[in-house]
Amino acid sequence: MCTIKELLGSNKYLLREVEVMGWVRTFRNGRFITLNDGSTFSDLQLVLTENTETDEEALAAGTSIKAFGTLIESQGARQRFELQLKSLSVLGQATGYPIHPKKHSAEYLRTVPHLRVRTRTYSSVMRLRHRLIMAVHNYFDRHGYYYVHTPIVTGSDCEGAGEMFQVTTLPLDALPKDENQKIDYTQDFFSKQVGLTVSGQLEAEACAMSLGKVYTFGPTFRAENSNTTRHLSEFWMIEPETAFCDLSQNMDLAKDFVQSVIGQVFEELPMDLEFLDERFQREQLQKSLSQRSSMGLIERLKFVMKNVVTRVSYTEAFDILKRSTPNKKKRFNYIIDQWGCDFQSEHERFLVEQHFKSPIIVFDYPEKIKPFYMRENEDQKTVRAMDMLFPDVGEILGGSQREERLDVLQGRIAKKGLSDTDLSWYLDTRRFGTVPHSGFGLGFDRLVQFVSGMSNIRDVISFPRTPRGSML
Ligand code: 4AD
Ligand code: MG
Repeated sequence: MCTIKELLGSNKYLLREVEVMGWVRTFRNGRFITLNDGSTFSDLQLVLTENTETDEEALAAGTSIKAFGTLIESQGARQRFELQLKSLSVLGQATGYPIHPKKHSAEYLRTVPHLRVRTRTYSSVMRLRHRLIMAVHNYFDRHGYYYVHTPIVTGSDCEGAGEMFQVTTLPLDALPKDENQKIDYTQDFFSKQVGLTVSGQLEAEACAMSLGKVYTFGPTFRAENSNTTRHLSEFWMIEPETAFCDLSQNMDLAKDFVQSVIGQVFEELPMDLEFLDERFQREQLQKSLSQRSSMGLIERLKFVMKNVVTRVSYTEAFDILKRSTPNKKKRFNYIIDQWGCDFQSEHERFLVEQHFKSPIIVFDYPEKIKPFYMRENEDQKTVRAMDMLFPDVGEILGGSQREERLDVLQGRIAKKGLSDTDLSWYLDTRRFGTVPHSGFGLGFDRLVQFVSGMSNIRDVISFPRTPRGSML
């Protein structure tokens, strides 16, 4: 048996008899079947001959078949090769298959995630996702980073935002209580309150204090009630952590990493990318002029790969936003007024899409709006944080230089009202051989969203998890 990718990839199989298996996309004029097996974007055209018996119904879209025939050069303009059939057998019929060759809306397809992956668009996105995953591992491996697995069930709320999903085996209808009528977690499975991780950073920091350069790439969970096109409740995050590295070197790494992994899909998946580019450009035409991307997908990816990523401090960005026309004319939903406010996605989009017209890194954020672990600057008002902002998807990664000074870190933990007993193990990394170090977290699904040009993050992961969303 051969895959379609193998058959179409060279002249090796020309005029030879081969067997292929796959799913029918279309069956036309009682003669032509387009078959796809997922190995590549391309379909294989199968041509029925007089002695191959079949009927239209048996070959409805979605049917799985096994075909045997000779690979010949095609007369048609659309494909180089086709398979002249000698025999054909149906493996599984697809009566009442809910996906038709016509275009379905993304909303409809989200109701059938187990089937939408068979469509051209979603299978392209999935191949692209795979290629990016491989590029990520490859990049870090080449740069001397060790891949570490950090726990999924944990007691640490790294970001301190109270967005952890709780994990328990306690009976929810009869929770054990202590003398203060509080839930008695000592009776729970892990004898304490635990949840699903929001980030592997704290554990990755501990590993970096031995291995020097490490990264994680795993699922993260946020019980955040955000119903946007950029948020998932379960998403995949890549978190490199580098010892002996300051914020500026961390920004260099972030830029080089993102540009390098984007470059890989060009080499490996040109057909998928061209298809997604056409789709992206069609979708842009339905948007208002002000919302429309000035570049096509491929053009935009090339632009991002080749251009500098402008670095701008929070304070500079704040001033730009404060003086901007949409702020003065009160067109922003959140008006920029007081230094120290967090930027909303409308502000991030303004900076990237209207003002700088390129991806940017904003650094040195106000201490108040960032987590406890970021290194305090001398002004004691800002921390060594950085966010990389992209068109459409907004914040693609966030990171910082970490606070390596034990006393300052303890001060920040106290100021944020966190418990230093829970974080005692983390403080050990500062007690024993502390070093300057930095890292960041890149939202992998947002990267796939940007590279594929899909407008909703729910359409770049096979089974999206969102608040009140389908659990299919
Ligand atoms: O900015 P965040 O919350 O940073 C951290 O978790 C740090 N501990 C990372 C680190 O320094 N090691 O999340 C990092 C990135 C964001 O920039 C965003 O791309 C993505 O994760 N992200 C989400 N992606 C999809 N859905 C969500 N709900 C996301 N929340 C964050
Ligand atoms: Mg962030």
